[in-house]
Amino acid sequence: MKILGIESSCDECAASVVEDGRRILSNIVLSQVDFHKPWYGVVPEIASRKHIEWIRPVVQDALAEAVVGADELDAIAVTFRPGLIGSLLVGLSFAKGLAWALGKPLVGVDHILAHLYAPHLEQDISYPYLGVLVSGGHTIIARVERSDSIEVLGTTIDDACGEAFDKVAKFYEIGFPGGVAIDKLARTGDARAFQFPKPSLHKGDARYDVSYSGLKTAVIHQSAQFWNGKSEKSLPNIAASFQKAAIDILVDRALAAARDTGLHRIVAGGGVAANSYLRERMSAEKGLEVIFPSLKLCTDNAAMVAGIGYHAFVAGRFSSFSLNAEARVPMFKRAYP
Ligand code: KG4
Ligand code: ZN
Repeated sequence: MKILGIESSCDECAASVVEDGRRILSNIVLSQVDFHKPWYGVVPEIASRKHIEWIRPVVQDALAEAVVGADELDAIAVTFRPGLIGSLLVGLSFAKGLAWALGKPLVGVDHILAHLYAPHLEQDISYPYLGVLVSGGHTIIARVERSDSIEVLGTTIDDACGEAFDKVAKFYEIGFPGGVAIDKLARTGDARAFQFPKPSLHKGDARYDVSYSGLKTAVIHQSAQFWNGKSEKSLPNIAASFQKAAIDILVDRALAAARDTGLHRIVAGGGVAANSYLRERMSAEKGLEVIFPSLKLCTDNAAMVAGIGYHAFVAGRFSSFSLNAEARVPMFKRAYP
């Protein structure tokens, strides 16, 4: 079964054809990084305009690379939430038009669940497991029961982990996307150079929650000290110390959740899952099976959309053409979605 996936929730315009939820026949990701770089962040208006320009050629490229005709597709899967509303609407409208014209089913896909599905494209992973989803918009530690069913154990109470990387990188003009730039710079710095505060573990229901706004503020307030005794090592040291603090916060919570739930398999996903220190630290944990997607499947892509879309298709969960884009997904009693 061949599913076309379309992803346009943020600043990557992506399309992919995946066979049977596993075999990637094509995976086209056109990044808008160069257009957002001057602002050190994604500008929503620019993002949706670029998606409008790019969506058609990107889908055409995905079909051409897969050597699959549009009429051979079994369904069109598309991200409809959460994300930037204008960007989501471009992909969703295009997918609806295509599905309508071809007479194929439409499958609306949740971006969070798609990120968690990404490593399933590369290996067999059995459920349940502890999912750690860390991206620019989300930080979620969850018990993952199936591709469409998770129980959120912990989340951020303020900024997302990737957002903290992006904001710190913006303040110190390290680069964009911030996570990639900080990860690279941190390799030449000393992670013990600065001591940044870490929020302490809460009790009760919120014990797996994380918080990044305090760390972000502390790193930014470090600037006086940073500029005073500035040397060529100052910036790499800030990057390395911040990265260590940010990732340690996440790993502490994830390990506590793994221990308490008895889930010994941890599966990571999302852009921050590309972080080299996170990958190194988690992989060194004894007694745990830790699975990371390859770098290309950590950040936004449409293969994960087509992959998870296959399972919805097989289960007969199609979407109607009145499906609308949703910027946010409210979490009720930690159930998701
Ligand atoms: O999953 P993604 O592509 O988009 C969202 O759904 O948000 O994640 C993008 C985020 C950005 O905040 C980016 O700075 C971060 O992932 N990121 C990283 C790394 N690569 C991307 N953060 C830390 N280390 C990295 N190597
Ligand atoms: Zn994402």
